[in-house]
Amino acid sequence: MNINIIDHPLITHKVTMMRDKNTNCKEFKALLKEISLLMAYEVTRNLPLTDVEIETPITKITAKVIGGRSIGVVPILRAGLGMVDGILELVPSAKIGHIGCYRDPQTLKPVEYYCKLPIDAEQRTIIVVDPMLATGGSAAMAIDFIKQRGVSDIKFMCLIAAPEGVKYLNDKHPDVPIYTAALDQCLNEHAYIVPGLGDAGDRLFGTK
Ligand code: PRP
Ligand code: URA
Repeated sequence: MNINIIDHPLITHKVTMMRDKNTNCKEFKALLKEISLLMAYEVTRNLPLTDVEIETPITKITAKVIGGRSIGVVPILRAGLGMVDGILELVPSAKIGHIGCYRDPQTLKPVEYYCKLPIDAEQRTIIVVDPMLATGGSAAMAIDFIKQRGVSDIKFMCLIAAPEGVKYLNDKHPDVPIYTAALDQCLNEHAYIVPGLGDAGDRLFGTK
């Protein structure tokens, strides 16, 4: 499995709080934002640097700033929305796209209903975000759409991944690195992640 597990103690602690069924909607939302910010630090670790000339109060120097491609963040609706603000705190210049896609409860297959990307998406590094990678169907479909629009530099960032989803996404999109805060045991008969945290969208928006 090609996966990057970001298991910093602060992140792991916060994921445990999110898993707890007694964590309420407000706390869940705040934790998801905090974890996304912390994870973004690792996901952006390899961004290229370029030289600039600046003047400190003491002397002129050549110093480093982030160069190369700009960033785009694409949440998979709905639950991915909860990860955007944390990333934006670190990378405020990122542009945001949206992909609407839900899992049909009968077939468990993803159904797309919306796709709007930054106009210059193909020139950006696109970070696709969704807290849950279960069967991998939603993430793979979202990345299909993004590639169809000419984007080649894509990363996928989630909170909890199931081995089944990692394998599926690795097979469909071997060029897309996966970053997760936790790799769980398996899926249950409804394709929910075990132990997971339940339905991320419902817990984030209080819809159940
Ligand atoms: C959840 C989750 C992912 C998807 C993961 O969304 O946020 O998008 O399921 O499952 P998969 O890996 O098996 O495709 P859901 O379909 O519940 O939609 P929602 O966010 O609108 O509730
Ligand atoms: N979607 C969720 O929100 N949770 C799961 O465990 C699986 C898919």
